[in-house]
Amino acid sequence: MIYGEKTRLRRIERQDLATFVRWFSDPQVREFLVLNRPISMAEEEQWFENQLRDHSTEIFSIETADSEHIGNIGLHNINWVHRHAELGIVLGEKQFWGQGYGSDAIRTLLKFAFQELNLHRVSLRVYEDNVRGIRAYQKCGFAPEGRSREAIYRKGRYCDELLMSILRHEFEGA
Ligand SMILES: CC(C)(COP(=O)(O)OP(=O)(O)OC[C@H]1O[C@@H](n2cnc3c(N)ncnc32)[C@H](O)[C@@H]1OP(=O)(O)O)[C@@H](O)C(=O)NCCC(=O)NCCS
Repeated sequence: MIYGEKTRLRRIERQDLATFVRWFSDPQVREFLVLNRPISMAEEEQWFENQLRDHSTEIFSIETADSEHIGNIGLHNINWVHRHAELGIVLGEKQFWGQGYGSDAIRTLLKFAFQELNLHRVSLRVYEDNVRGIRAYQKCGFAPEGRSREAIYRKGRYCDELLMSILRHEFEGA
């Protein structure tokens, strides 16, 4: 377990996969994700096996203090030479949105990334109209660093993707 203030992070397990299938069958949960279609149990099982062998990925379940599994958070494309990674997060249980659980899980993962994995930089990509996500990232100290114009096609139109990042000294000085 990695403990935050409102959340704690644990390794994902094979028995979590049915929960992921349920979360991603909901269009509202998928709205701002790269994963833009429902996913089957067989696909989840294949994804799970692949990530077990992938040393550039660290994925955790987000739990509340009451052990309720409300989402997932991960570091992807970890580069052990340049010491950076990309952060991804989803709270699949929608009733927990907007109450500080996401930002607590992000801070908890950043502390682990910088102080245990000795990473230097964590970046992320977020759709320009994901206001709640952008606000959560800003609260955790992520700074905007660029914009990929019309990189995303969704709801019948193109939208921009924002790039944000945080450096270790920025996190530790926050
Ligand atoms: C993005 C996500 C992880 C954020 O976690 P969260 O627990 O909902 O976020 P937090 O409560 O920590 O912070 C959200 C902030 O946005 C604010 N907010 C929420 N909805 C908002 C809206 N519609 N407009 C403006 N601000 C909004 C909240 O008030 C809060 O700010 P505050 O603490 O200053 O009041 C979560 O909402 C989620 O999983 N969403 C669906 C999947 C997703 O978008 N993943 C990220 C893809 S890049």
